[in-house]
Parts: sequence; C-alpha cells; structure tokens
Amino acid sequence: MNRDLPLQVAIDGPAASGKTTVARATARRLGILNLDTGAMYRAVAYLALRTGTDVDNDSALVRMLDQQPVTVELDQSAPLGFRVFGGGQELGERDLQANDVTAIVSAVSANPGVRAAMVVSQQAIASRWPVVMAGRDIGTVVLPNAQVKIYLTASTGARIYRRRLQLERAGVNVDSHRLAQEIEERDRLDATRAVSPLAPAADAHVIDSSDINADEVVDKICAIVANAR
Ligand code: DC
Repeated sequence: MNRDLPLQVAIDGPAASGKTTVARATARRLGILNLDTGAMYRAVAYLALRTGTDVDNDSALVRMLDQQPVTVELDQSAPLGFRVFGGGQELGERDLQANDVTAIVSAVSANPGVRAAMVVSQQAIASRWPVVMAGRDIGTVVLPNAQVKIYLTASTGARIYRRRLQLERAGVNVDSHRLAQEIEERDRLDATRAVSPLAPAADAHVIDSSDINADEVVDKICAIVANAR
C-alpha cells in the first residue's frame, strides 16, 4: 500500500446504499475528515436550477461554476462532517436533497467539464488530509491510489427504506410511489454515462449492507483499514 499518501478511504456505490451514513461514521471512528461528493454534484444541480442553466450544456455549466463556484469546507463539527457552498451561500440538506435537485443531478453530473471541476477540488483535499470520501467514481477515478476502497451495495428494498428516512430527516416531501423509480433511474443513468460511470474498482472490497446495520458496516471497513496499515 502507498504509505506516502495521507490515509484515503474511498466508498462508492449506488444511490441510497448507505454511503453517506457509513462514510460519516467511519470518518468519526478513524478520527479523520469526511466528504460525500454527491453533495457537490447536488450543489451544481441546485445552482443550475437557480440560474436556469441547461443541465446538458457542459460549457454553460462550467461558465456558471466559474461565476458561482461550488466549494467545500471539511469540518468535523458540522452535521455532515463538511459544509457545501454554492455561489457563496452555504447549502443545507434541505436544498441539496430537494426533489427537483434529485431529478436533474444525474444529468448534470454526466457533463465532463462539471466532473473535471469537482474532481480537482476532491483530489486537492485528499492530497492534504486523511479522508473518507464517498461517491460513484472515487476508487476508480478520483483516488485510484486510495489505500482502502469499498463498494457498498444493498437491495432495492433496503435502499428505498433508507432513502425515505434520509428525506424525512432532511424535511423533504416523500412521494412513496416515485422513490423506487427515482433510485432505479439514477442508478441506470449513473452506471451507463460515458464519463466515470458508477462501477466497483477492481481492488474494491464489496460490502452488501442489506442485512447489516451501519455500525456493522463501519466495523468491517475499520477492520479492512487496520489490515491495510
Ligand atoms: O450520492 P448522491 O445520491 O447524493 O449523489 C447524487 C448524484 O451525484 C448521483 O446520482 C450521481 C452524482 N455523483 C457522481 O456522479 N459522482 C460522485 N462521485 C458522486 C455523485
């Protein structure tokens, strides 16, 4: 393993597989920082809606980001372990998890220029500090030399249940009929896009969390981290 790098734990997986909760708890347990990169793509989608920018127009989105950058501040005392800013304003769970943001985030994140901008700041963070980073392409593209790579999966039923809890906690209206559809459609778009599609890295440890709780997943990840050191 690469001992010159600060510790990097990459956690990838499909929508609502538990990455956010598990990444946050793993980072706490290891005493290191946490970044859920989905929040950055959600911030771009939020700004696209606010500015009326076409979700398929890569260069217009990149221009929008030049004027209104998406930035993150890693802060263990923040509810998620990090804060996300879009156009200078802090964006909360309610903004980022809003149904209209979720509806366009896969399209927005399929744009190569948008991804390049996000990946630069993700890599800059991980080169400086030990971090747990969650997303879709962390083990494959963002941190290909991460010492620990996890691919977290769960059954569709478990993912629907978790997404419902997450939305309720964020104070977002839950439309039960559309939840399964939304999750499946995002998985399809995220796994079939041309740039950095969702996929397990060849050296990822696959963990199925359908029948185990978040604490047990964190136990498994911490055991893998301890072995890698
Ligand atoms: O993890 P999430 O549901 O908050 O992510 C929202 C969207 O962002 C997801 O549907 C695809 C995109 N995303 C991405 O393309 N790459 C990442 N590393 C993280 C998220």
